[in-house]
Amino acid sequence: NKSETIYDAIGGDSTIKALVKAFYKRVGKHPKLTPIFPKDLTETEIKQYWFLSQFFGGPKLFNENRGHPMMRRRHLPFEITPSRRDAWLDCMAKALDEVQIKEPYRTMMFERLTLTAHHMVNTSD
Ligand code: HEM
Repeated sequence: NKSETIYDAIGGDSTIKALVKAFYKRVGKHPKLTPIFPKDLTETEIKQYWFLSQFFGGPKLFNENRGHPMMRRRHLPFEITPSRRDAWLDCMAKALDEVQIKEPYRTMMFERLTLTAHHMVNTSD
């Protein structure tokens, strides 16, 4: 009686890899986001791949490599305003479309990411 995870339902490892690639391609070009992200997003993409794998029910790669997620705490060094949150979510929505995540998983994933993104806001615009 084991229910399938979102991770398995969307195609597992290769889908998460394609998603983070499609996401950071947009982050790296977004004028609201580039000021706070590193110029080279290679490492950022790997950390996000670890995180999203476990976030959607796959292997606990983030915990294995970086320890407890503590996402809000890890974001405190960066000024995350409501407009940056919206920019982040816009990049993610477009990435979910690009890799053609099917319903109901697309909506489930975007809702979870939206809740987490709202929690990350730590300053005003
Ligand atoms: C790291 C920005 C939301 C997951 C970072 C970094 C920045 C950033 C600037 C540092 C990059 C680096 O260390 O290479 C933002 C902004 C957000 C946001 C503007 C808007 C709300 C989120 C959300 C998630 C997330 C919703 C998860 C669903 C991560 C992860 C890391 C990270 C896993 C790497 C943390 C580490 O291992 O040190 N983010 N982030 N972020 N972010 Fe976000």
